[in-house]
Amino acid sequence: MAVSPGRFITLEGGEGVGKSTQLRRLAEHLRGIGLEVVETREPGGTAGAEAIRALLLGGEADRWNARAETLLFAAARSDHVERVIRPALAAGAWVLCDRYVDSSRAYQAAASGIGDVDVMAAHRVGSGGLMPDRTLLLTVSLEIAQARAMLRDGEEADRFGARGLAFHQSVAAAFVRFAAEEPERFRVVNTDADQDAVAARVAAAVADMLR
Ligand code: TYD
Repeated sequence: MAVSPGRFITLEGGEGVGKSTQLRRLAEHLRGIGLEVVETREPGGTAGAEAIRALLLGGEADRWNARAETLLFAAARSDHVERVIRPALAAGAWVLCDRYVDSSRAYQAAASGIGDVDVMAAHRVGSGGLMPDRTLLLTVSLEIAQARAMLRDGEEADRFGARGLAFHQSVAAAFVRFAAEEPERFRVVNTDADQDAVAARVAAAVADMLR
C-alpha cells in the first residue's frame, strides 16, 4: 500500500516571537492525534547544515556580504531538504520546520537588498524549489519581541539579532507582505497572548489540513 505523503509546515517570524516553543507545542498536538511528526529548524537540521549555521550566526557583523550569506543559507537548506525533509515527507511524516525559505526572502531579499527572484533561484538550484504546504507567520509587537529576545539572548545576540531596529522592521514588514500575497499558504498568528492561547491559535491554523 502506498504511503500517503506527509505535510510540510513552516513557522516564520522575527526574533523573539516564540516560534520554537510553538513548534514544540504543535508537534505535541499532532502526535497526540496519532501523526508521525519530525521537528527541525533552519539554518540547521543536519550535521552539514549545522556546520554552516555556525558560520552564519557567529563572528563579526560584516563577516559575509549579503550574496555569500544568501548562498550559505541556500546550501544549508539544500542539505536539509535532501537528507531530512524530503525523506520524511516521502515516509508520510508531518515536517515542522522553524524557519525556511521565507526567512531568506525576508532577511536576505527584503532587508539586505538581494532580489527575491535571486533568492528563489538559489532555492531552485539548491532544493528543487520545495515549498511548504502551510506557513504560519507568528507576529508580535516589536516591543514584546525585543523584550523576549533580550530575556533569551541577553547581550549575546547573534549576527542577526544584533542588527538594528530598522532592519527588523523591514523583516517584519516583508513577512506580512508575503502572507498577503499568498493567503492560501500562509496563516498569520498573533502571539501577544499567553502560551496556551497562542498554541490553540496555532493548532486552529492547521486544523483544515487534518480533514
Ligand atoms: P535562530 O537563533 O535560529 O533564530 P530565531 O531568532 O528564530 O530563534 O537564528 C537564525 C537567524 O538566522 C535569525 O536571525 C534569522 C536568520 N536567517 C536568515 O537570515 N535567513 C534564513 O534563510 C534563515 C533560515 C535564518
